[in-house]
Amino acid sequence: MNFNINKIRQDFPILRQKVYNKSLIYFDNGATSQKPQQVIDVLNDYYLKHNSNIHRGVHFLSEKTTQAYETARKTIKNFINADNDYEIIFTAGTTASINLVAYSFAEKFLFEDDEIIISEMEHHSNIVPWQIACERKKAKLKIIPFNNNGELILDEYKKLITQKTKLIAVNHISNSLGTINPIKEIIKIAHSNNIPVLIDGAQGIQHQKVDVKDLDCDFYCFSGHKVYGPTGIGVLYGKQKWLDALPPYQGGGDMIKSVSFEKTVYNDLPFKFEAGTTNYIGAIGLGQAIKYIDNIGIDEIIKHDKKLIDYAHKKLLEIPEITIYGQAEKKSSIISFLINGIHHFDTGMLLDKMDIAVRTGTHCTMPLMKHYGIEGTVRASFGIYNTCDEIDILYNAINKIIKMFKK
Ligand code: ALA
Repeated sequence: MNFNINKIRQDFPILRQKVYNKSLIYFDNGATSQKPQQVIDVLNDYYLKHNSNIHRGVHFLSEKTTQAYETARKTIKNFINADNDYEIIFTAGTTASINLVAYSFAEKFLFEDDEIIISEMEHHSNIVPWQIACERKKAKLKIIPFNNNGELILDEYKKLITQKTKLIAVNHISNSLGTINPIKEIIKIAHSNNIPVLIDGAQGIQHQKVDVKDLDCDFYCFSGHKVYGPTGIGVLYGKQKWLDALPPYQGGGDMIKSVSFEKTVYNDLPFKFEAGTTNYIGAIGLGQAIKYIDNIGIDEIIKHDKKLIDYAHKKLLEIPEITIYGQAEKKSSIISFLINGIHHFDTGMLLDKMDIAVRTGTHCTMPLMKHYGIEGTVRASFGIYNTCDEIDILYNAINKIIKMFKK
């Protein structure tokens, strides 16, 4: 399909809503994306007509819902080019996926004085689970630094790797800077040292082509709600050899094959990691969201993203009172900035009154803010429905705020 922005905007009912009596400009897609009618319809339809717990009944509704859940798994497997359906684990989101790996991997493979490497630009969700794991196992956390443009320093990364390094965890795209990290290279370097790599794809999957075979990543994590799907659902992709090797994370429900007081036998993949009743309708909705973006075409989405971020940079750089944080050569869809001398909360609140929704604060990346010596930024993050006209409105609004503060 060709990228038809008018048609895409029509698909998102929330964009037709007025905020303060004006059209909403939604630039907070890094926090969560809006949902197309096609996803809303599937969720409604399942709750209205088909709801029944999966893998637990032989009746009509249960079989229908089970089938839809497993079809969603297949859709996701195809979308990221995984080898097998059972390498797709449904979780509650990126944070849950990372916590699963951090716990189970540490349980089996992390020992005293071992090392985990993450980067200075990680979201707290890709820092804290590893800190907990390191604390539990008396291991060390090592940090890849980034330069002031917001690019990871690969020479420093190489120097951090030792015989004790057990795993490397980095994000695909920085949620605060928009940097597209060279994950393929990072993985190659890690693998030449026999170290597995986890990619936090929370900001990656909706903006980049993700081919887990081509990347050769060991784990890739993402959330449904940031990829135009429902909240409370996400994915952990893991290579079979790792998922087979890791112990279960939580017990109960689908993750068992048989239980006795003497011994429990765990279920096969993917169910070994899907304890309890999963958010199965969320998974079906996520499958629909993936179909939706696949139908538009990820290459078209990448082109649109590039147009928006290049335009936003060009416009905001025209304003001398602005500092942009993160000017990596490879960037996507996120622009973090401060108007010099104006607190980010004030800018955010004033933009809101001008119908522009942005995020302000640390964006759950306090160490990144510390690098720049700031308390937070204003972040505009774009989605498939945003336009250059909306960026013009942001540009005018920023100039208005600057004038207000000059008075
Ligand atoms: N992690 C999300 C963000 O970056 C919530 O805004």
